[in-house]
Amino acid sequence: MSTILVVEDEPKMRRVLELNLAEEGYTALTVADAEAGLNLLRREKVDLVLTDIKLPGMDGLEFLQAVKRTNAAIPVVVMTAYGTVETAVEAMKAGASDYVLKPFSLEEMKLILRKELEVRHLREENVSLREALGHRYEFKNIVARSPKMQEVLGTVERVAPSNSTVLLGGESGVGKDLIARAIHEHSRRGAGPFIKINCTAIPENLLESELFGYEKGAFTGAVGSKPGKFELADKGTIFLDEIGDVPGTIQVKLLRVLQDREFERLGGTKTLKVDVRIVAATNQDLRAALEEGTFREDLYYRLNVVPINIPPLRERKEDIPYLIDHFIAQFARVSGKPITGITPAAQKLLMDFPWPGNVRELENIIERAVALSTAVVLDAADIRLDLSPAKPSGGDAADATALFPPSGMTLEQFEDEIIKEALRRANGNKSQAARLLGLSRNALRYRLSKMGVPDEES
Ligand SMILES: Nc1ncnc2c1ncn2[C@@H]1O[C@H](COP(=O)(O)OP(=O)(O)OP(=O)(O)O)[C@@H](O)[C@H]1O
Ligand SMILES: [Mg+2]
Repeated sequence: MSTILVVEDEPKMRRVLELNLAEEGYTALTVADAEAGLNLLRREKVDLVLTDIKLPGMDGLEFLQAVKRTNAAIPVVVMTAYGTVETAVEAMKAGASDYVLKPFSLEEMKLILRKELEVRHLREENVSLREALGHRYEFKNIVARSPKMQEVLGTVERVAPSNSTVLLGGESGVGKDLIARAIHEHSRRGAGPFIKINCTAIPENLLESELFGYEKGAFTGAVGSKPGKFELADKGTIFLDEIGDVPGTIQVKLLRVLQDREFERLGGTKTLKVDVRIVAATNQDLRAALEEGTFREDLYYRLNVVPINIPPLRERKEDIPYLIDHFIAQFARVSGKPITGITPAAQKLLMDFPWPGNVRELENIIERAVALSTAVVLDAADIRLDLSPAKPSGGDAADATALFPPSGMTLEQFEDEIIKEALRRANGNKSQAARLLGLSRNALRYRLSKMGVPDEES
């Protein structure tokens, strides 16, 4: 949200501008003369100055020069009466970004402000990109060597300390979860809770009570009361995964929480206030959903305050060798195998692959390769690209060859892989994974404990 300083001596005009700017989502600071304007600039962070030229005391032109002396980067837009175009020209020469002639239409004014703020924003971005060239962003457990991922991490570093809502976009498996956590950990809320909720994995009738909680008797079966995820995330971050799948009825309620940070439990009358940072993610094109009318526009704009798009792996192949090393080290450690690297032939295979399942798919391939390998270096023969799962949504085709354990794998190992895959598809949700496998939850937990997977709730 941008802050605009308005300097205008005419009270009515000041009021009109203040109201209209607020309506556009800007913070408008208004003063009646240049001196007050300069004072305010010393105290507040201002993104743009809008000033009348004809002012009592110091006039607009002098004011403009004074502003430029203190901070040359602030765009200044001047307002001047018809018939005084010469003054406008003079102002432009003195460093004004643009001018409007009074009386103006508010639409015209808004367009000019938006344009100037955008220009300023782009300039700031350039500066930080330049800074980034000399400084590589490093985050624990995140491989990001490509310029595209460096840009992503640069944005994360910049927005993490703020409370701004972040909307993460990107195909399945690109690392949205990972980035959401990084935002939390690098924020001032890092010591607070990080609560994730997967909006797809939960049936519509349960999603509402999961998010907002319920009171005893709110519905059949509500024998006690329970806090929702928003309450649990107080003083921390809530991660709304797969936000594109939230049904319309719940979208309205989310909008309210986003605006006012308040809600009621289901069946409750008390309004609860929470202090949460919201990070949402989607692998869908939400703009398309807007057009189809399945996603509310007002909610979209509330969520899309800071958009971060994580590019697919095929668009940042420079990361692949580093990801390979990262995953080999990780799986060698957990499996206790002394695997230290990969042959050039195997690496080429991985570099040439289009990775429809992105980093998750690469991670799976390396995990399997490490499991199968008997040498200290992974070879092309250890890499089984054909085995790779498609994106989680696709792939329910029951192809007999796909059902057969790949050579070198025992039936038991193969079953373990299927169980892990079910967990991945269920995003770690054990009840859902059990359902996918046709197992009871307890049967799945038993299998997982045999595989050595720790039994913790996610
Ligand atoms: N840059 C990276 N460095 C290291 N590991 C990564 C990176 N990106 C992703 N991963 C790993 O890949 C896997 C998939 O990442 P993640 O779960 O964050 O993807 P996602 O975008 O949330 O996927 P989905 O849309 O399916 O939820 C995770 O195990 C994650 O740790
Ligand atoms: Mg995810």
